[in-house]
Amino acid sequence: MPTQHKPVMLNEVLHYLAPQTNKNYIDGTVGGGGHTEALLREIGPKGRVLALDWDASAIARTQERLKEFKDRLILVNDSYINLEKIVYDQKFNEVSGILLDLGLSSDQLQNSQRGFSFQLDEPLDMRFDPNTNELTATEIVNTWSEEEIRKVLREFGEEKSAFRITQAICEERKTKEIKTTGELVEIILKIFPRRGKIHPATKTFQALRIAVNDELNNVKKVLESAAKILVPGGRLAIITFHSLEDRIVKQYFKQESHDCLCPSELPICKCGHKAIWKIITKKPVLPSAEEVKENFRCRSAKLRVIEKI
Ligand SMILES: C[S@@+](CC[C@H](N)C(=O)[O-])C[C@H]1O[C@@H](n2cnc3c(N)ncnc32)[C@H](O)[C@@H]1O
Repeated sequence: MPTQHKPVMLNEVLHYLAPQTNKNYIDGTVGGGGHTEALLREIGPKGRVLALDWDASAIARTQERLKEFKDRLILVNDSYINLEKIVYDQKFNEVSGILLDLGLSSDQLQNSQRGFSFQLDEPLDMRFDPNTNELTATEIVNTWSEEEIRKVLREFGEEKSAFRITQAICEERKTKEIKTTGELVEIILKIFPRRGKIHPATKTFQALRIAVNDELNNVKKVLESAAKILVPGGRLAIITFHSLEDRIVKQYFKQESHDCLCPSELPICKCGHKAIWKIITKKPVLPSAEEVKENFRCRSAKLRVIEKI
């Protein structure tokens, strides 16, 4: 089964993760398997990758596509928030690097039937895993209060027009349930007709997906787990696609790479906070202009890397 997804900043990921021959690595978001495949080639002949995805179809596709790697690739359909348990269950020790490439894959945008794309008319679902997650985007737009929906659009989409979009959604749902992405897009386009390259529904879709999958809390949880799993000198590389995720990663990196961040006016601080990471990328690494030209979806990607002390 081919994948439509192009791995983002592949050379940069390999450069900063610096994978070593015969060592073990984790890809927490395998998607189409582009990064995993490159890692497996770098760490051969005996290095292994434990690769997760919350979406069962990503696991099935990658299983088939990367079968040549046999038992050097272990695929698990689960959320990366359960990383510690998965590592323990799989007896996957001595982990030298972890990659998290957050967000959505092109495969999910193009044919998931789960409503991730505003360009297709599909059920308004947006769950990465319909088996373990009960909350859908349909439930949010049809049953949450106007104030709650507005908060989702403002906080998770940074949508400046959250007030008007929410008002229009709540007006529409008085007459009929909003069940498809096409219906939601129509509501938004009625108030903001399409102009320019960025679709007016982009931020609303992003916000709903983040809320449905609790994505920001997931990122916070996996950062804590990574510190426990990696060997000293092991690296964690994270690619984010919007400012909220990047802020969480940046703040965590800053906080955990200093011994103490208490206010400097304290005479002698006894907080005992010890740095557990060393920052490898002082500034986020961005895709080259050439890559953005070839793959417009990567335009907002930011790569940050830290190393366990
Ligand atoms: C940007 S894609 C990864 C693409 C991949 N690096 C490649 O080269 O093809 C992000 C993937 O993360 C998965 N995902 C999102 N949240 C997840 C979570 N909490 N746990 C595991 N996978 C998750 C999505 O299902 C999606 O397949």
